[in-house]
Order: sequence, then structure tokens, then C-alpha cells
Amino acid sequence: MGVGLLGTGHYVPSNVVSNKDLEKIVDTNDEWIRTRTGIEERRIADDDMDTSDMAFYAAQNALEVANMTARDLDMILVATVTPDTPFPSVANMLQERLGAREVASMDIGAACAGFMYGVITAKQFVEANAYQNILVVGVEKLSKITDWTDRNTCVLFGDGAGAAVIGSVSEGKGILSFELGSDGSGGKYLYQSQETDSLFMNGREVFKFAVRQMPESSVNVVEKAGYHKQDVDYLIPHQANIRIMEAARERLGIAEDKMATSVKRYGNTSSASIPIALSEGVKSGKIKDDNLLVLVGFGGGLTWGAVALRWGL
Ligand code: UT7
Repeated sequence: MGVGLLGTGHYVPSNVVSNKDLEKIVDTNDEWIRTRTGIEERRIADDDMDTSDMAFYAAQNALEVANMTARDLDMILVATVTPDTPFPSVANMLQERLGAREVASMDIGAACAGFMYGVITAKQFVEANAYQNILVVGVEKLSKITDWTDRNTCVLFGDGAGAAVIGSVSEGKGILSFELGSDGSGGKYLYQSQETDSLFMNGREVFKFAVRQMPESSVNVVEKAGYHKQDVDYLIPHQANIRIMEAARERLGIAEDKMATSVKRYGNTSSASIPIALSEGVKSGKIKDDNLLVLVGFGGGLTWGAVALRWGL
């Protein structure tokens, strides 16, 4: 038996903020944002919608696609750096709100690599036969820790949620290999300031790390799975910046239309970006049964994670 994704879902707030809208609040312009990042617009949640609300909608969608109810879940994992409160966790809130049994629930903090950490953690529990169906959500309301006067960061981020149910799939399908890593010496490049509560980023340093790490991790998981770069059907990189994503795509040597690019419409949604792009890829039919996928993320910490995955049940 393999361990794979039984269903995926996502939710993004309806409120669209364009680059032009941001020109009105900071000294920036549409041209700079597009050419440096690939971002055209992002979704920003209203004040009355918190992280757990978006997580709930994405989770409901994933359960529906997996043809399950919350009663089928044996564990709930939520990757987020923007929980409603430090505790109770968003995962705790979801357990109650979804109407799940009194199962284990916890949040995972690995910044933009959080969803990868969640999926790989879930895989271990399923493989060990401890649990059957595990909900993994990646969700962020980054707008609440964004400094809306800092043009270096406020143009980059957005809010949203993506989710997947992890469980058993047939032999040869599901997660074929993975890689997780972290380097705490890079913590100074991307963090939430204790003084201002806002996100701080040294963009150039994070960029340098990301253009090295994403391609390297992508190639590593493909090779660990026993495949070659040219076997990859679809690449789902963390949606941070199109230039970083292109570096990973070029290193794998795959065509432009074989990479998810939702960064254009949603900006960087941190731990939500990979599951949102995955869910959209499945819904649109771009991701097909038997496709070899690579999911790869990196983020504050510094943290990173990747999987090679044979899609299907
Ligand atoms: O998921 C978390 C991981 N985060 C990331 O992946 C972000 C990684 N970093 C990046 O994506 C890029 O470094 C940025 C998009 C943040 C910045 O792009 P860059 O090409 O590295 O630009 P830069 O920081 O070197 O800035 C170039 C210029 C500067 O002006 P000077 O000093 O050359 O006069 C900035 O002040 O662009 C200026 N600038 C802006 N101009 C217009 C910075 N932000 C803006 C802005 N609008 N929003």
C-alpha cells in the first residue's frame, strides 16, 4: 500500500486587492510588482474572517472531494504562522467546528514549508498503521501581520487556505519520496517582529536561499523516488515569486505549462500556497491520474520540504 492524498480543497477570500490598489497606499507600481514577483493581485480576508474560518472552508472542500465526513478523520494537522490565537490551536478549533470525533489535533509551525511538514508527518502516522485518515490544512491570514506601510513586504502576501486528506492508496501511488530540512541560522532573514508584531523580511537573502534550495530539493526527491527530471509531469512550487519558481522549473527542465502559477492571482499565501495550487490543479484537470508531481516549499526558519508524488488512488 502507498500513502497519498485522498482529496484536496481550498478556499480564498472574495476580496481582491490589485497592484493598482496598493499604489494608493505605498510608493510602488504595478510594473515593479509584476516584473519582480509575477504577482498581479491577492485576496485579503475581511476583519470578521479569521484563520480558522478559512481553514474550515478549505477542510470542508477537501472532505467533500475525498467523499468523507469529518467523523472519518483520525487526526487534524494545521500548518500556520497566523493562528487566531497562540492557543487553542487552529487544529483544535477545527476539530470542534467540523464535528470530528475527539481525535488528536495540533498546529505545525514551519512557515511557508508548513504544509510539506504536515503532509510528511501525516504520512508517518498512516504508514505506521496508527491512523487511517488525516486532515492536513495549510492556512494563513498574513494580512494581520503585514506592515501596510512597508513596500518591501506588503505587496507580496495574501490570505487563503488549502487542505488535503492523507490516507492509504494503491501500491505505486502516493508519496514516493520526501525531503525536509531546516537551518535556524537564517531566522534573522524572515520573522515576525516581537516589537511591532509585523512580518520582517530581508528579501534578497531569502531570494538567494530559495533559488538554491527549491531546485535542489526538487531534483533530490525525483532522484530518491528513482525517476529522472524528465519524468516529472507537474511542478507545484511554493508560490512566493515567479522568478524563484522559474529557477526550479528550469532546473527540472520541464515546460512552462507544467508548473502551477497561482502566485499571479493570490500572491504569497505561505503555508496555504502549495495546497491551494494543488487543489486548483486537480479541479481544472491539469493534474491527472498517474501524473508524477513534485511539491516543493521553503520559508522562514529557514525551513524547506519537498515530495515526489504519483497522483491517484
Ligand atoms: O515565502 C516566504 C519567502 N519570501 C520570498 O520568497 C521572497 C524572496 N525575495 C524576493 O522575492 C525578492 O527579493 C523581492 C521581490 C522581495 C524583492 O526583489 P529584488 O529584485 O530582490 O529587489 P530588491 O529588494 O533588490 O530591491 C530593488 C529596488 C530597491 O530600490 P533601490 O534600493 O535599488 O533604489 C527597493 O527599495 O526595488 C525597491 N523596491 C520597490 N520598488 C517598488 C522594493 N520594494 C518595492 C516595491 N515597489 N514594492
